Amino acid sequence: MTAQDRTPEAAGMAGWFDPGLPPRQQVLGFVYAKWAVGALRAVVEVGVPDALADGPRTAAELGAATGTDADALRRVLRAVAAAGVLEERADGRYALTPRSEGLVSGAEGGIRDMFLFATDPMLWRPYENLAHTLRTGEPAFVHAFGAPFYAYTKAHPDKAAVLDRAMLQNRYPGMDRIFDEFDFGRFRRIADVGGGRGHFLAEVLRRHPGTTGVLADQEHTVAEAKELFDEAGLTDRVTIVPTDFFAGVPAGCDAYFIKNTLHNWDDDKAVLILRSIREAVGDTDARLLIVENLLRGPGEWDIGKLIDVESLAVLGGRERGREEWNRVTAAAGFAPANDPVPGDVALLEYRPV
Ligand SMILES: C[S@@+](CC[C@H](N)C(=O)[O-])C[C@H]1O[C@@H](n2cnc3c(N)ncnc32)[C@H](O)[C@@H]1O
Repeated sequence: MTAQDRTPEAAGMAGWFDPGLPPRQQVLGFVYAKWAVGALRAVVEVGVPDALADGPRTAAELGAATGTDADALRRVLRAVAAAGVLEERADGRYALTPRSEGLVSGAEGGIRDMFLFATDPMLWRPYENLAHTLRTGEPAFVHAFGAPFYAYTKAHPDKAAVLDRAMLQNRYPGMDRIFDEFDFGRFRRIADVGGGRGHFLAEVLRRHPGTTGVLADQEHTVAEAKELFDEAGLTDRVTIVPTDFFAGVPAGCDAYFIKNTLHNWDDDKAVLILRSIREAVGDTDARLLIVENLLRGPGEWDIGKLIDVESLAVLGGRERGREEWNRVTAAAGFAPANDPVPGDVALLEYRPV
């Protein structure tokens, strides 16, 4: 099953309801999810998956290895095992399962940093204040933290690091499909706007030796990028440009890639970013390549509809369907050049008009 499947049941959401309860009470299963997520976050935070990487251990051994209270840890581990993320053995030892292996630091294909970011108080507290968003339309994040998300992360380098590390793991099968299906090799010079630390640009360049790239993101974000390009042997093919995409975007590229970034902004701000790109395109035929969740229609399952609420609460942003994408891009001077299938992550290509 993948998020592509068209019903919540097929996508795995049926397990959220407790079938042992009468239908009117089954939604209490969502509360179990809160308990499980809270317990798992603590386990990851103190480093249990890392401490299990070399093999099964008892709660007492894990308590010593992680500097935690063995009895409290045993109870939380037992809950996480009951929820199906760790294995609890009859001899009292706990072991990783294929699902928890991805929570070990640096695990290939893992999601530890993404999990810690997505469950961090900075993304959790907005849900405590979501009714405020409903009443006012304002991002709950501002209500909870007193500043917009990016101003807050800029002022808190530890939180910015949590975000930037997570973005390195912002990679799912839908993205592999895009790499397989879309020919980035037809471009000569590709800008990754809001490209984080350059993870995706590096992959595009690796896959297409004839291309060069420009990484355009905030100064404190790109500060970490050079090392990645050095390690990948790509330094000669990349220009790193500290950028405020509301003020302008580097010119001279024939493709402007912008992934999981426009959804962070409301339509007015998204249009401003797109206008910066349009200005950089000038009178060339450079393409705009947007990678985002492309929402399905009413009544259909779509994980993007849940992510949309997070965008709303944290950033005042939004996920969009095809018409909404066409509207914001048209306002900046772009017209559609492809027709991807809605649902899951999609690459939308636009040409300048
Ligand atoms: C959700 S992240 C996406 C990163 C990357 N494209 C990816 O898919 O992993 C959004 C990015 O927008 C960048 N960003 C936010 N405000 C910006 C601004 N004013 N100018 C340039 N980049 C900005 C952030 O630094 C961050 O790297």
